[in-house]
Amino acid sequence: MFPWVLCHLPGPHQEIFRYQEAVRDFIYQEISRHKLRAPEAPKDFISCYLDQITKAKDDPISTFNEENLIQVVIDLFLGGTDTTATTLHWALLYMVQHSDIQEKVQQELDTVLGTATAVCYEDREQLPYTRAVLHEVQRLTSVVAVGAVRQCVTSTHLSGYPVPKGTIILPNLASVLYDPCCWETPRQFNPGHFLDKDGNFMVNEAFLPFSAGHRMCPGDQLARMELFLTFATLLRDFEFKMPEGSPGLRMEYIFGGTLQPQPQKICAVPRPSTSSPGPKEDGL
Ligand code: HEM
Repeated sequence: MFPWVLCHLPGPHQEIFRYQEAVRDFIYQEISRHKLRAPEAPKDFISCYLDQITKAKDDPISTFNEENLIQVVIDLFLGGTDTTATTLHWALLYMVQHSDIQEKVQQELDTVLGTATAVCYEDREQLPYTRAVLHEVQRLTSVVAVGAVRQCVTSTHLSGYPVPKGTIILPNLASVLYDPCCWETPRQFNPGHFLDKDGNFMVNEAFLPFSAGHRMCPGDQLARMELFLTFATLLRDFEFKMPEGSPGLRMEYIFGGTLQPQPQKICAVPRPSTSSPGPKEDGL
């Protein structure tokens, strides 16, 4: 109800504010480094944004300024790192848990990619099973279970309930990702949720791990690309399995900003039959 109170209360959460300062300093230094560079065509996000600040300097209502630049970079880091890394972490655990599914993905990758040296994002059209597996990982793990905190800008009604202006809203994405009306086996890992009877990839409107509407995740396209390329490349080159003598996988999540897997060891064994050049030793 009163989020601002947290800044004034003592407790372990104060550490978050200290880390936030350290991140702000780091970004500020990065911006200063960009400013010192010789003028050139803008190359990255910070240099494009600095360019916009210069162009909009005479516009009194422009929102392009250094303070906003720092905040946008923080938002991109916060939104874009943990989410994607955690999803990939879960994907590998599910492949260890379902070795038959892992094998099917590898067969599809071998058949479709053949001797191609690298996986391209365009290849996903020919890899419906791999794509379905990754979608199912995102659905079942629902890493951002509760979307970003929002506030209602105007009074409205939702499903017959009044929602007054200023109401704080926490969207429960898990409610749709596990909705028994939308998924055949909502609590089980089942790539079939995204495949039609002929094995073609099938979109399901209830697949909303990136939320929906005007404020849905702006990084969803980047995330989809990163997930697909990393997952397909890893599965093509390695077989993932449990280490000898392991007591078994722990699949309960740790609750936090994202739903994290438990820390545990799994083995990545290079695949002898892989057609790609494979990982170089110095790159491991
Ligand atoms: C598996 C990966 C990801 C998942 C599951 C995910 C999910 C989400 C969700 C559920 C939201 C809240 C949307 C809402 O409130 O309606 C969100 C917001 C956001 N995401 Fe992502 N995201 C992912 C990757 C990324 C990436 C790669 C970036 C950028 C590099 C990114 C940047 C952001 C930002 C900046 C916001 C806040 C947007 C706003 O406040 O309007 N996300 N994300």
